[in-house]
Formats: sequence, structure tokens, C-alpha cells
Amino acid sequence: MPYPIHRPRRLRQSPAVRRLVRETHLVPSQLVLPLFVREGLTEPLPVSSMPGVVQHSLDSLRRAVTDAAAAGLGGVMLFGVPAVRDAVGSGADDPRGILNVATAAVAQEVGDALVVQTDLCLDEFTDHGHCGVLDARGRVDNDATLERYAAMGLAQARAGSAMLGLSGMMDGQVAHVREALDAEGFSDTLLLAYSAKYAGAFYGPFREAVDSQLTGDRRTYQLDAGNGREGVREALLDVEEGADVVMVKPALPYLDVLAEVRASVGVPVWAYQVSGEYAMVEAAAAHGWIDRRGAALESLIAIRRAGADAILTYWALEAARWLRDDL
Ligand code: PBG
Repeated sequence: MPYPIHRPRRLRQSPAVRRLVRETHLVPSQLVLPLFVREGLTEPLPVSSMPGVVQHSLDSLRRAVTDAAAAGLGGVMLFGVPAVRDAVGSGADDPRGILNVATAAVAQEVGDALVVQTDLCLDEFTDHGHCGVLDARGRVDNDATLERYAAMGLAQARAGSAMLGLSGMMDGQVAHVREALDAEGFSDTLLLAYSAKYAGAFYGPFREAVDSQLTGDRRTYQLDAGNGREGVREALLDVEEGADVVMVKPALPYLDVLAEVRASVGVPVWAYQVSGEYAMVEAAAAHGWIDRRGAALESLIAIRRAGADAILTYWALEAARWLRDDL
């Protein structure tokens, strides 16, 4: 008997063979680019903790989405940074609020070429930085927040958002917003539920990107890092409530949850490669300690392999270029 009998290396002998037997692929249409737009800016403003990421002016935002469409991305996810905030986040459902104004501009510009999505959460608009409104004792009031989300969702749908990203982690938010949309005739507006969204340190750079006012943390509404089953439960509840797509976030530290959610639901499952995941690779690359492109693409393929049908990533535009060059 010749030895060894099994030679799995045969499948790795050349780029052509490796390409032919590759199990997981990544294409630009599976990538969604998060974009920040800040009220009152005339020029884009760099976010120092996220090299290559900026807070956009309305004009530079229009150019960015045009580039995203030309690169064949699946979509863009818009975040607004208002000039003024208050306790209930009034800017969120004001048609003249920065996110709604930007959504209308972007939808008009590229609405047919990619899926224009908007963050549906109050944290960018509240002066306390929480994702909901507070009760008399300063706790996030779930059911009062649902009313605000319904108003915000309607404002975003009216502005032309095709898909609402429910990132606030309030109980019942999917059903509540769905009902409000349907009652006003927006039955085509898609709902992306950030179902398994974990509390933790990986959102650090995002807080700079949206000029967050938060003191304290989000541990009474976002999930605990130790809990995988609870993430699956949240995803199942959101599907029951009518979510069109469910999401796991952050991505790389939660690949196990992603795989389990993928196995448990019948709707598309997305992952959000968050600001901290991006910043870690960028910082190491800036020191020459890691190959930037290699680490970025490897992390994206890993997230796909674990079960993500699409990925929100700050590398979306660049990754689309890299993928095209690799063909
Ligand atoms: C909530 C929201 C957050 C992120 C996306 N939507 C912040 C949070 O929950 O604290 C984080 C994204 C990132 O870190 O890249 N509006």
C-alpha cells in the first residue's frame, strides 16, 4: 500500500485547482458600505480612529454612493450626525433631519443601482446617547421607544429608504415598525433586524464617527458576550415578527453565533464587521505589523464561510476593487 493513501494537498497544488475547489466566494454585491453624514459640513471630515473613513457632507455623500454603485456594491447603510440633539431624538423623525435629508438625496441619486439603507436607532439623535428614550428613573423605556422607532421608520421610508436597519435592540421593534409601515402603505420597505447585537468594546471607533454623547453602556439592551443561545433566540423572534433579514454583530468575534443563526432561520443572515474590527487591522497595518489587504479579505471570507449572506464593512469599496483585480 503506497503511503499516504489520502493526499488532500492534491487539491491545493495550483492557483487554478484551488480556485476550482474553493467552497466560499465573495462578490461585491454581498458587501454593504456604512456611510456617515454630518449636518452642516461643507467638506468631508476624517474619523481619526478609522483611517479612510470620513463624516460626509451632503455633496461628498452623493459622490460616495455613486462610487459604491459603480463598484457594484449591494448597498449603503446611512448614519446621520445631527448638529442638535435632545432627550427624545427629535431629529430622527423630522423630515428636515440630516439623515432623512441625506436619504432623500441618495435615493434620488442611486436608488435603482443599489439598496439604500438607513440606521433606525435614536442614539445619534439623543443628548444622552442611548438608543431609546429614558423613563423618570433614567432607564431606557422599551415601549415608549417603540413609538419613536415607528415615527422614525415612517420618516425614513417617506425619504426613500428601501431598507430600515433596526439596530436599537428594543423588544418588539420589528413587529412595531412593520405595523406602522404597513398602515401607511409602505409594505415594500424591507426590515433588517440587528437581532444578535452584542454589547462591548468593538463599537469604540464608531462612537467617534457619530460624535456619540453616551456615558455608561448599553448592557440593559444589547446582548452579553457570553450568550450564544440568546442570540439565536433573538433572531428567531425577529423572524417571527416579520424581519426580512437578520443580522449578527460584531462579526469576527461572534462567528459561532453567526453559524448557529444561519442554521436556525430561513431568511438571509447578514453580519456587521464593526468599527473596532476595522480599526484593529488598520492600526496594525499602519505599524507594518500585518498585511492590510490580506487581513481584510481573509476576515471577510471567514465571515462568509461562517454563514453571512452579506456583510456590512468599512472596506466594502476597496474590497470590491481587490476582488475585481483578483479575477
Ligand atoms: C446604533 C449603532 C451602533 C453601531 C451601528 N449602529 C452603535 C452602538 O450600538 O453602540 C456600531 C457600528 C460600528 O461600530 O461600526 N446606532
